[in-house]
Amino acid sequence: QLRLAHTFSWVWAQRGDHAGRLLHWPWQHTPYPTYARLRAQGPVVSSPVGFEAATTRASVGEVLRGAEFGVEPPQGSGLHERFDVVDLSFLLRDPPDHTRLRRVARPAFAPRMIRTYRDSVEQVCGELLDRALERGRFDLMHDFAQPFPIRVIARLLGVPASDQARFVEIGNTIGSSLDGARSARHLARIRKASAELDQLFDRLLAERRAQPREDVLSSLAAAVDEGQVKGDEVGAMCRLLLVAGFETTVNLIGNGVMALLRNPEQWRALVDDPALAPAAVEEVLRYDSPVQTTGRWVHRDTEVQGVPLRRGSQVICLLGSANRDPEHFTDPDRFDVRRDNAGEHLSFSSGAHYCLGAPLARLEGEVALRALAERAPDLAPAAMPKRRRTLVLRGLSDFPVRTGAGR
Ligand code: HEM
Repeated sequence: QLRLAHTFSWVWAQRGDHAGRLLHWPWQHTPYPTYARLRAQGPVVSSPVGFEAATTRASVGEVLRGAEFGVEPPQGSGLHERFDVVDLSFLLRDPPDHTRLRRVARPAFAPRMIRTYRDSVEQVCGELLDRALERGRFDLMHDFAQPFPIRVIARLLGVPASDQARFVEIGNTIGSSLDGARSARHLARIRKASAELDQLFDRLLAERRAQPREDVLSSLAAAVDEGQVKGDEVGAMCRLLLVAGFETTVNLIGNGVMALLRNPEQWRALVDDPALAPAAVEEVLRYDSPVQTTGRWVHRDTEVQGVPLRRGSQVICLLGSANRDPEHFTDPDRFDVRRDNAGEHLSFSSGAHYCLGAPLARLEGEVALRALAERAPDLAPAAMPKRRRTLVLRGLSDFPVRTGAGR
């Protein structure tokens, strides 16, 4: 049995109690053959432990967009109490709260707004690469992919330079919670970091209330004052913006560089024509999605692709499987930066919870891949990359690389 049940939703991941057992599964190293076997069983596959799993591009899309599904357990089902959602962020809320809270955060992440961040994103990327490339041999994850998005989000939120080093450390710890805690000690560290982050945001929000600036924290402080967001929701929103935009983008860069270097003709294509960077980003998202699964509760009896689903059951949406569905993508296991429909992947989800940060993630991915292709055309692996032992998120922890200077 494929142990599908253990491919759990973000809600469970955050509860922190299942993760330890997850980490030893052999198939997480490369889930794609498992996904192929599951797709062969049908568009929605039942596991003996009560989960359903949507496996194809069509079934995953239908669940994510369907009005019969929600991210919270159905009202009155008794499941709310058992699966108490501690995090008040809008990722884990259904309408009307979801609609109200997302509306507050939306303007800062609109494509028009994100275009104005390009210079700042390029500057952060350039500084990190200056330092890494000078050494010739560096770790792509530690020296570039990890510090890059967190510095961008710190600037965007309006975290002052003096707090940024601590913010990065806290972000690293909280980011590691998306796949659940590995041990009681890890859980304690996550809780401590979370409390510290709340304090930091409380202080910054108070400062912005007194002296507003042009940043996301100032607009959130104003939204609290206007009654659009409650006091205890604003911290969760800040945390979401940090966590959702951090490890995911780290993995986009790491998975992207790995796919490109493993397919040297694709890397060459990007080096020869760096304008291919946005297309390469879409193909990386499709080919090796940084977020592999998400989950939905069935709110009303329904059917997906002819498979009946009962109210109260939970559906795991296998985003990484949807993106490799041969019914939708020709030769899906081939990595091809010139593929014309790569952008039809579901890596940013679909429907009401479609990734709010998608324009920012795309910008960061494009800037990173373009800069590497332009400045390090002879980039090559220097040792075996190490994979993170995580399931919801897919990515690397270490990836030693070198350029000509570092041979
Ligand atoms: C939601 C993926 C980067 C902010 C989501 C979801 C996915 C996702 C799959 C929806 C989960 C669901 O439907 O249950 C990614 C990937 C990223 C990325 C693959 C990078 C490659 C970012 C960035 C930010 C961000 C940079 C901004 C700071 C959010 C927020 C939500 C979200 C706020 C919640 C949206 C809602 O519930 O309405 N992301 N994300 N993400 N993402 Fe991203």
